[in-house]
Amino acid sequence: MAPNTQFKILSIDTSCDETAAAVTEGKKVLSNIIWSQASLHAKFGGVYPSLAKRMHKERIGWVIEKAIKNSKVKIKNIDSIAVTVGPGLAIALEVGIKKALEFAEAYNKPLIPINHVEGHILSVLAHSRNLKSQISNLKFPALAFVASGGTTQLILVYKIGDYKILAQTSDDSLGEALDKAARMLGLGYPGGAILEKMAKKGNSQTYPLPIPMLGQEDKFVFSYSGLKTAFYKLVEKEKPLNQEKIQNLAASFQDKAFKHAVRIIQKVFDEYPAKEFWFGGGVAANLELKKRLRFICKQKGMKMLIPYSKKLCTDNAAMIGISAYYRFKRKKFLTTRDFDKVDRIPRAKVDKKLPW
Ligand code: KG4
Repeated sequence: MAPNTQFKILSIDTSCDETAAAVTEGKKVLSNIIWSQASLHAKFGGVYPSLAKRMHKERIGWVIEKAIKNSKVKIKNIDSIAVTVGPGLAIALEVGIKKALEFAEAYNKPLIPINHVEGHILSVLAHSRNLKSQISNLKFPALAFVASGGTTQLILVYKIGDYKILAQTSDDSLGEALDKAARMLGLGYPGGAILEKMAKKGNSQTYPLPIPMLGQEDKFVFSYSGLKTAFYKLVEKEKPLNQEKIQNLAASFQDKAFKHAVRIIQKVFDEYPAKEFWFGGGVAANLELKKRLRFICKQKGMKMLIPYSKKLCTDNAAMIGISAYYRFKRKKFLTTRDFDKVDRIPRAKVDKKLPW
């Protein structure tokens, strides 16, 4: 086996609508292949589970092959196979798990089951082929904010592998809320990125929308359903829409959605003096939100870590490889005789240890 920091891991993630495989070496990303099904799900306005499963099955082999080829690593030199076991769509997860088991058996490699949310948390620690890790001397506890299509959580990281969820959403995730707002404006799915583009050209003060849970931030609950309903009514009232209205509406929605998130994060900072702030998940690609969070981190004198590329923000397998690296170092892997125990955990929680 390779020396400690050089572990080469082939990772697979099929938790939602991205078919993803990657090869990592320690925390270095050698390849990160993502085949997104988003355009196929667009007409449903969200992920259609049986379609996701079918497309994962169709694409997974090709995606893995490309990840290995691009990494320039021979299969015999791969130390372990990692796979997302949850949280995610059950019938989508099972495609990746089955493939990972097949691979691990065929090539006699250990298997590392990974929690997808832990992947998002640790995505900030990845570094590219050309760069040496810029991240040294991590300081704990860190506060991680994971905001994606499926998750909106604030997680206290006592150390890698030891987490406590401090706040989460009671209804929609932040990414889901942005997607729904974009859909109401006719901008397609997924809409977070295009909503950001529109918002940049609009005036966020044009429309009076409520900031969710105003004055109740100490409950540590994110909630976007009230804002969503208010936005729906506003959009209906403003119809027919034109470009200017769309831009102003996008800016107004994004502003309130972000103000809510930032207010809760500030409250958590006050109560849990974390030493660093880590921001991962699809919404971490948003420049405006990053700017606002950077500002509050600066006020607190805290370091803020974000993934080094957009590909590491949205669902991907390289982040699964980073989590797997830390588990592998702790010798948390399964060998062939335990493979039949591995199963999907669609509602896995990041602060609950995996059973294997
Ligand atoms: O991490 P991810 O792929 O998660 C799940 O599929 O669960 O994140 C996807 C989410 C979508 O809701 C998408 O609209 C959002 O991330 N997103 C963005 C941006 N890029 C992607 N949200 C805001 N601004 C962006 N630039």
